[in-house]
Parts: sequence; C-alpha cells; structure tokens
Amino acid sequence: MKYPLPLRIIHWLSALIIIALIVLGAYMTPFSMDNVEHSESLYFWHKSFGILAFIVVILRLLYRSKANLPALPEDMPSHEKLAAKLVHKALYVLMVLVPVLGYIQSCVYPYSSGVHFFGMLLPEIFFDSQKIFDVVNIIHKTLAYSLLALVIIHALGAIKHRLFDKENDVFKRIL
Ligand code: HEM
Ligand code: HEM
Repeated sequence: MKYPLPLRIIHWLSALIIIALIVLGAYMTPFSMDNVEHSESLYFWHKSFGILAFIVVILRLLYRSKANLPALPEDMPSHEKLAAKLVHKALYVLMVLVPVLGYIQSCVYPYSSGVHFFGMLLPEIFFDSQKIFDVVNIIHKTLAYSLLALVIIHALGAIKHRLFDKENDVFKRIL
C-alpha cells in the first residue's frame, strides 16, 4: 500500500522547497553590503518560500491526521521501525519550528524592512530587539542545519531499503 497521492506530492514538493531554502539560506548570509539590493532580494525569496514551507507542512499535518496511512511492513526489524518513526517525528517538529523561528527573527530584527510573503506584507507581532534577534538567529540556524542532518539520515535510510531490502522496500510507498 502506498501513501495517498496528495501526501506523496506534498512530500517531494516540500523536500525540494526545504533543500532549496537551506542552500539559499547558507548562500545569502552573511548579508553583503556591496550589493544590498541583490542581498535583500535573496532574503525576500528566502522568507517568502520559508513561509510557504510552513503553510504546506501545516496542511500536510492536517491532511495526514485524517488520512489512511500504510503501516510499516510487519517483518521490518523493530529497531528500524522505531528509528523511522522517531526521524519522521523529528522532521515534522523541525519543519514547523524552523520557519516559525525565521519569522520571529525577522520581526525582531531592528533594521528589517518587514516580512513579506511574496507580495503581501505580514504583520510584525514582535517588538524590535537586537538581543532577542541574536538568540533566535542562532537557534534558527542551528535547527535549520539539524534539519539538513536529519534529512540526510532519512534519505540514506530510504536508499538503504531501496537497495538492500527488496521485500521491505518502503521507498515505493512514497513514489
Ligand atoms: C523550512 C524553512 C526554513 C529553512 C530550512 C531555513 C533555513 C535557513 C538557513 C540554512 C539559513 C542560513 C543560516 C546561516 O548559515 O547563517 C537561514 C537564514 C535566515 N533565515 Fe531561514 N529558513 C527557513 C525559513 C525562514 C523563514 C520563514 C524566515 C522569515 C520569515 C527566515 C528568515 C531567515 C533570515 C532573515 C536568515 C538570515 C539570518 C542572518 O542574516 O543571519 N527563514 N535560514
Ligand atoms: C527535505 C527533505 C525531506 C523531508 C523533510 C522528508 C520528510 C519525510 C517525512 C516527514 C516522512 C513521513 C511521512 C509521513 O508518515 O507522514 C517521509 C517519508 C518518506 N521519505 Fe522523506 N523527506 C525528505 C526527503 C526525502 C528523500 C531525499 C528521500 C529519498 C531519497 C525520502 C524518502 C522517503 C521515503 C521512502 C518515505 C516513506 C517512508 C515510509 O514508508 O514510512 N525523503 N519523509
């Protein structure tokens, strides 16, 4: 049994957006004062797609809570089942936390020109504070790279099933 089609589409779409966000995030920082316009435009796209990633994961969690999901294969070793479930949970936690922290960091940044979701200016629900920015900035960064590390572990696990566990190939459930 496969994951329902909407979840399969959302899985690969979010994977693409999240990996692109990490690459763009790493590339756009540090902000270059030599070419402020270029840097600001990269930040604009990072924030807009970051908020999109947040909306997508909330819709995904809502859909998932009502969907009929395939159980992991019965003969899969219990430690592998546990590892897969823990990694999936951690991925969801980080997929929610990282964009929320990104939004808070952008709101409290004293020199920010506002947070835009593509053409829409979002309300800034936090007061400006360089000190809070410094803390949230480090957490956003650390969790974003932790998300990358988890994605690599997750993808390696999936590839391992594809290559070596022909009868327990969970890969085709998400294709
Ligand atoms: C899943 C969503 C997101 C991911 C994976 C992500 C990832 C990253 C990464 C990897 C960096 C670079 C950190 C560094 O090397 O210093 C970064 C920086 C940044 N992110 Fe995100 N981000 C996400 C969502 C957001 C959102 C929604 C916002 C704001 C609305 C945001 C605002 C920022 C800002 C302003 C920086 C630059 C901080 C600085 O100049 O030091 N991010 N992000
Ligand atoms: C940013 C990148 C990615 C994220 C955030 C992510 C996240 C997730 C999550 C949360 C699930 C659990 C789905 C659920 O039960 O609701 C899942 C399932 C899965 N993912 Fe990913 N994924 C990413 C990239 C990849 C890549 C690159 C591969 C393969 C190389 C992959 C292969 C799979 C497979 C095979 C499953 C199904 C596992 C099962 O049958 O239980 N994912 N992914």
